[in-house]
Amino acid sequence: MDVIDRIVKGEPLGKAAIKTTVEGYLTGSVSKEEMTAFLRAVCAHGMSDRDATYLTEVMLESGKTLSFRRRQYPYADKHSTGGVADSTTLIIAPIVAAAGVPFLKMSGRKLGHTGGTIDKLESFYGLRTELTIPEAESVVERTGAAIIAQTKDLVPADKALYKLRDETDTVRSLPLIASSVVSKKLASGADVLVLDVKAGNGAFMKTVEEGEALAKLMVHILHSHGKKAAAVLSDMNSPLGDGVGGAMELVDAVEVLEGKEGRLRDLALLIAGKLITLAKGVAPEEGQREALGILTSGKALAKFREIITAQGGSLELLKQETRDRIFFAREAGVVTAQKDGYVAHVDCVKLGFLARDQENGGGYGMRVPFKVGSAVKAGDALVRLYGKTPTDEAMLRALSDCFVISDAPVEPDPLVYRIIE
Ligand code: URA
Repeated sequence: MDVIDRIVKGEPLGKAAIKTTVEGYLTGSVSKEEMTAFLRAVCAHGMSDRDATYLTEVMLESGKTLSFRRRQYPYADKHSTGGVADSTTLIIAPIVAAAGVPFLKMSGRKLGHTGGTIDKLESFYGLRTELTIPEAESVVERTGAAIIAQTKDLVPADKALYKLRDETDTVRSLPLIASSVVSKKLASGADVLVLDVKAGNGAFMKTVEEGEALAKLMVHILHSHGKKAAAVLSDMNSPLGDGVGGAMELVDAVEVLEGKEGRLRDLALLIAGKLITLAKGVAPEEGQREALGILTSGKALAKFREIITAQGGSLELLKQETRDRIFFAREAGVVTAQKDGYVAHVDCVKLGFLARDQENGGGYGMRVPFKVGSAVKAGDALVRLYGKTPTDEAMLRALSDCFVISDAPVEPDPLVYRIIE
């Protein structure tokens, strides 16, 4: 294919050639082998920002684009490139909604080692995530926010390409990730977007430099489509919150709404504050102050109750006694530190996959309170697992192997490396 020669030579492709290739794949005139060769060429040689923008547009044009009834402030949305113990969406949605900014997010299910927001929400008995767009808009009208599963008619090209990328190990490419993420964000109709780009061993982008390049490219494409957008480059060398997998990630978010402090709360506040700032056109400090006030006053928790109820969910899990009875009374295993020291490394990918295995076996997830740089004492619980059946030795050993404890103090990683406005 001529396009592949051009990618290899670093020549511009142009929108027409990209459209012919992507549409051809969807309609069958471009074979799986040819499309794989295209993806491999992009992974190996990259693409100009202009061609990445064209690829995004071609993907966007493969399906429907949503638009909403105008309200006082524009619709806001956020996206994370995927991390472990990241339940920020569940904290951000009620904060932003309580600030009067409409928030309609389409979320995904588990992907690789990362948990999906939709799976977390389904821990609420009765909660519906498969809402139609009019139903979701009506939830937003009533409560200010809705979190729903991706609908099938948005960006079908991404579904097809993502599947092929997954099968052919061509996921890790700046223009391919950027076009995949941004096309979905453009299709989902929000005018204000904050992207949370993860960098670290548990992220697609392993280094801050790669993460920054991805963040800049995505913000550039969003700006060129008239969106108000910013990106936060955040750390993924440690699980973000304490809960990994299953219901524990949901519990983590609820605890933050109830007042728990830590990195999950700090990142959620930063992103919520940015969304409020961009949507209302106020000074950044004002947006941050409003987000903090909403969280600490309990308004975010009250709003969360409204959203869960409007989507048909039971509020039972918002009661501490219920969580204690159905999750915490069922400890299924503990992994302890073998010596005093400092956490020097957490293998987040392995940890995420093990949490997924545990969940697939009927577990409720695990709690992993220590982060890189934390001081630990011999016997401290590095991981506590919850579920109905005891965890087997092999799983406990594998979890223990996710941690490196050093004798010398270790500098904690920053929570946020850069902010791209
Ligand atoms: N998330 C996406 O939606 N697409 C990618 O390519 C990677 C992460």
